[in-house]
Amino acid sequence: MRFPSTANSGEARVADPTKEEHWSVHVRDDASEFVRRLIDLSVEANLVPDRDFHYKWDEYADWQLDVLKQSGLQPKHRLLDVGCGPLRLGLKAIPYLEDGGYFGMDAYAPYIDLGAKLIVECGIEKRFTVLCSSTFEFERFGSLFDYAMAQSVFTHMSAGQIRECVRKLKPVMRPGATFLFTYFFTPHQRGIMYYGVQPMIAPRVLDTALFEEIARNESITFEASPLPHPAQRVGIFRF
Ligand SMILES: C[S@@+](CC[C@H](N)C(=O)[O-])C[C@H]1O[C@@H](n2cnc3c(N)ncnc32)[C@H](O)[C@@H]1O
Repeated sequence: MRFPSTANSGEARVADPTKEEHWSVHVRDDASEFVRRLIDLSVEANLVPDRDFHYKWDEYADWQLDVLKQSGLQPKHRLLDVGCGPLRLGLKAIPYLEDGGYFGMDAYAPYIDLGAKLIVECGIEKRFTVLCSSTFEFERFGSLFDYAMAQSVFTHMSAGQIRECVRKLKPVMRPGATFLFTYFFTPHQRGIMYYGVQPMIAPRVLDTALFEEIARNESITFEASPLPHPAQRVGIFRF
């Protein structure tokens, strides 16, 4: 079996059937030890390593915790990670927050399983809560939140889902709570089949009108934040 290289190297590895390992994925030479392990665990979980997602793991993990702290996150706070994926933020936030302070929700079960493996891999012993749901059942956590994050998540939802997400966040966010999310402008809506199995929509976003409409309807505030992000724009809803 022949697999293309995952990034930049321009070569593919060919399986050697005489070895126990029947195929391999080429890992970029500059990948950190953690990213190498992440790729191994992803392959074991049948998740194809993705150039952007895996190789930018550290950059996007640090970005999320940094901007949350800049926005006032403290260890005593409760944090909700909307579309938490395999805990890219969680692996940083769980150790930072007091025991039990991190809550994540994601639609894609294999990511939640991978996140559980990464928690063990990183030796994290603090408690946290993660639920698999695509319908924003935040009340299932039985908690109120001071901060929420949706990094590269509204980029995978229709406008209707974004409206529903914020509507369902409102009862679980404390008055004054901050929700940071990322988005980018694109004139085209397109369907995505996440990892070939989970249907999602990348929305058409021409400007911030949708977020302003949501803020009006939910009686919250929206700010197009000047916070820099490696690839997207940052928005903030305050409840
Ligand atoms: C690009 S990943 C980002 C994951 C994570 N926020 C991070 O920064 O690593 C997009 C995530 O959004 C999740 N997602 C998409 N639609 C969702 C929905 N309706 N409810 C919960 N999660 C959703 C996907 O399953 C995926 O984990």
